[in-house]
Amino acid sequence: MEEIRIGLIGLGARGRHWLKMLDNFNGYRVTAICDPLTELHEMSLEPLKEPESIAVYDNYEEFLADDNVDAVALTVRCKEQGALAAQALEAGKHVNSEVPAAHTMEDCWRIVLAAERSGKVYQLAEQSRFSGVVTAWRDLVKEGKLGKITFCEGQYIGHKDPARYHRLPGTAQLVPIADLAAHPEAEPTWINLMPPIHYLPHELSPILKIIDDRVTEVTAMSTRSPSYVHNEIQQPDIQLAIMKTANDTLMRLAVSYTQPTPPRDNHWCHIMGTKGSVELARSLKDSPKLWLADAQMHDHAEVDWKPQRTDAPAEARGSGHSDTDYYIHASFRDAILHNVPLEFDVYRAMDTAAPAVLASESIAQGSTLMHVPDFRPGPNRRKGEMPG
Ligand SMILES: NC(=O)c1ccc[n+]([C@@H]2O[C@H](COP(=O)([O-])OP(=O)(O)OC[C@H]3O[C@@H](n4cnc5c(N)ncnc54)[C@H](O)[C@@H]3O)[C@@H](O)[C@H]2O)c1
Repeated sequence: MEEIRIGLIGLGARGRHWLKMLDNFNGYRVTAICDPLTELHEMSLEPLKEPESIAVYDNYEEFLADDNVDAVALTVRCKEQGALAAQALEAGKHVNSEVPAAHTMEDCWRIVLAAERSGKVYQLAEQSRFSGVVTAWRDLVKEGKLGKITFCEGQYIGHKDPARYHRLPGTAQLVPIADLAAHPEAEPTWINLMPPIHYLPHELSPILKIIDDRVTEVTAMSTRSPSYVHNEIQQPDIQLAIMKTANDTLMRLAVSYTQPTPPRDNHWCHIMGTKGSVELARSLKDSPKLWLADAQMHDHAEVDWKPQRTDAPAEARGSGHSDTDYYIHASFRDAILHNVPLEFDVYRAMDTAAPAVLASESIAQGSTLMHVPDFRPGPNRRKGEMPG
């Protein structure tokens, strides 16, 4: 195979961004698009080089039956996201899925089994793990500069546009909260219904890469539902998870979609070890910080770490999310065309998805401690089979 014939499902803003990238990305040819909302079809095709050569679907099964599609780019936002990924693998397609990977444990397992049985590539397209700062911190940890890692913090705390929580049924037309009285027929979107903590794969992906570990135990808490910020939003404002890893590191992770904040990066992270610590900037005026216990340092030092990589190729520049969007498409392509092992394989992806799903199950059960399975095959599970 010299190029990957890729079909994309989910033509929202993120899907349309992916489409434009894939249309110009060496090694890909866009052959199909799919979204049940037909009003999005024409505007999605319009910026592409050869729109007339691209098949258009509003039905997922018909899209998956297209022999001209080798791989599925999955940029939907819905509860069934994980099931759709598994269905594509079961249909013999490679899958590059947007974050988060899945919203149920059943779907996590279904993805793993479908990837193992089909031998197809599954990648969770979490891009921040490829950033310059994550690479630098991973190297510091690997070289032992921070000592034994004892504590990590991560958060995604931001305020999504209040227009994104309701839409007119069967359309892409969003209804701002201020206009809800005029549209009693408006229905909640998935952002309105999704437990915020389900978005943790975006934090766990870089953190678990930095410390080369996996989560084994999770407990979590939540503020009340509905939101204090917008009474019309059914989800709580903040959900917080406490986790423990296989290597005995404790983690504190939080997600909010509604919390007002000044302009800044919604992601924040802190890694602490017995010999030092690193953390990201807290505000636009702030800088990332490093402290090393055995380096005669009386305080944290500011370090000019950025998401942008100093070694990024020209094609990465301007690809989105501080150039890191490039790497999710390059690594998926290289895994399929050149058998380059994925850095973020299906097991590592589920290491980030399952703790998030179990955190919301913990909340539902009054903060019960949940145990996270290891999805890798081993003495208790043969490849392609559920654990005994
Ligand atoms: N990696 C990142 O930093 C990043 C940034 C933004 C969005 N995202 C992810 O990208 C995805 C899409 O985000 P968006 O903002 O474009 O969402 P969106 O809601 O604007 O668009 C999603 C599209 O998927 C379609 N869709 C939803 N459910 C479907 C189903 N069951 N079958 C077929 N189509 C379905 C919808 O009709 C819609 O057109 C989400 O998973 C989101 O988490 C990731």
